[in-house]
Amino acid sequence: MADYIYTLETRLSPDQQKAVTLVLDAAKAAEMNLYLTGGAIRDIITGFPIRDLDFTVQGNALKLHKDLERAGAVVGDADDETRTLLLTLPGGVRAEIAMARSERYDKPGKAPQIAPATISEDLRRRDFTVNAMALSMNEGSRGLLMDPFNGTADIEAKVIRVLHNYAFLEDPSRMIRATRFSTRFHWPLEERTQARYESGKENGYIEYIRSSSIGYEIEQLAYEDDPYGVLKAYEKEGWLKVLNPRWSTAKVDTAGLGALMKTRQQMNELGYTPEVAPAVLHFLTERLGDKDISDLRRAIPRKDLVESWKDLDANAHSLAKRLSGKEAGTPGRTWQLLSSARPEMILFLAITARQQAVAQKIKNFFTKWRQVQQKIPLPEMTELRITPQMPEYAKIANDVFLLLLDGKLRSRTETLKYLKPLAPPPPPPPPPAPTKRGRGGKAAAAAVPAAASAKPGAKGKGKTAAVPATQAQVAPVPASKPAAPAKPVSPAKPAKAAKPRVEKPTGKRPQAKNKAKRKTKPKLQRKKK
Ligand code: CTP
Repeated sequence: MADYIYTLETRLSPDQQKAVTLVLDAAKAAEMNLYLTGGAIRDIITGFPIRDLDFTVQGNALKLHKDLERAGAVVGDADDETRTLLLTLPGGVRAEIAMARSERYDKPGKAPQIAPATISEDLRRRDFTVNAMALSMNEGSRGLLMDPFNGTADIEAKVIRVLHNYAFLEDPSRMIRATRFSTRFHWPLEERTQARYESGKENGYIEYIRSSSIGYEIEQLAYEDDPYGVLKAYEKEGWLKVLNPRWSTAKVDTAGLGALMKTRQQMNELGYTPEVAPAVLHFLTERLGDKDISDLRRAIPRKDLVESWKDLDANAHSLAKRLSGKEAGTPGRTWQLLSSARPEMILFLAITARQQAVAQKIKNFFTKWRQVQQKIPLPEMTELRITPQMPEYAKIANDVFLLLLDGKLRSRTETLKYLKPLAPPPPPPPPPAPTKRGRGGKAAAAAVPAAASAKPGAKGKGKTAAVPATQAQVAPVPASKPAAPAKPVSPAKPAKAAKPRVEKPTGKRPQAKNKAKRKTKPKLQRKKK
């Protein structure tokens, strides 16, 4: 049997793993059974990126609201009908926690009758076999995969299959979802599913789509890796006008969207992970009228997403203004300003900036200025004992970087002159070796001052040189994200090993001297006799 917990733990990002623990703790405290469901399971098995975490609890998920907020979750929406919470967990992890429920459809176009249910019943109300799986997170059954419709086989066959013949009639949003998943994974609809889909299209099932499903699907589009590809597929299938009657590919700023995805990729490579969904919505709807945009915003369930979308222009404008002012008067100050800005804002401004100077500063921040880090004299800093073990190390390294960036330190000599007074005092001398009678003892005692007088910074003698800092350790870290802005380079050269003149203060006699003693001792003893 596959070890899904192991796969889960290896596939989730550290933030997603923390999110799982956080939700599990909240569910345990409320004595609810917790399952990881839907797309996360599919993505764990397929190896596709795990974009969000869908949890199902046996019980009322809304009861976890307060506990989760206390643990740092932002609740984007709470749906009373399905008792579902849409959350953003620490680290920007998107999650959904829903009550396990059954859905009974009495008439197409009418909302289903919803009732609390077991996890097995819950899996039966889902859209496709590949999404109708659950992984138990509970003690006693942790790691147990529930797959009543053989979703794993369909993942292997790479097909999208509905659970039953009435799937599209009951919930017409499944036709839009079928198009979305099929486009994303490049998986076809299974033959009978395709036939049901065509018949659903011909018979206008889509007219019965619920408005809440429209909002949900608009939102999901924002998180696609290729949103334009999915939008094109929606247009072809006739679904785009369902989301908004005036939406079309012509309303998209394709150049802006393309630049957004490209710059995001570049930022990812530098260690930043900006949330792009609000900007994706911005570019996808760039040429729609104000009324249509506000209709779309009203429909989206996640209010935190809508707020970020709304604030994009104003935030970018304010960052651009700061970048044009005194606050960004030098490269060093600009670096500091951009390091403390939210990566989302930098990303959006990088694409939309109207002033050439602002765009250039952002470009320098991502490229040219990072190269200045190579000028930080790491080996010499290590010899001066300015190492990451020092509490002031980060500040010193950052100050040197900024001074280099601003051209205030123009050469290695100048940089070393600046650094020398900041070097910590040499370590205290090792405790004196126990005084011994005879020649060996004297030699050991004489060695101590030699160690103590070893000049700080003298090549090969500083003990700290044995633990060289790396460029990554010294690099100023952007405040907004824990990523080191420059790729780590090879460690600084360790200084040459000191000549073995100095004894280690081990309390033991050095071997050579012991030998000498062994040679002489017997002679003396013989003399005595
Ligand atoms: N679901 C469903 N029918 C819908 C919407 C959702 O059955 N109309 C179920 C599916 O089991 C789905 C899960 O709810 O897997 C979560 O929905 P969603 O987040 O939209 O889809 P994911 O499968 O998680 O896909 P994505 O990778 O896009 O997040």
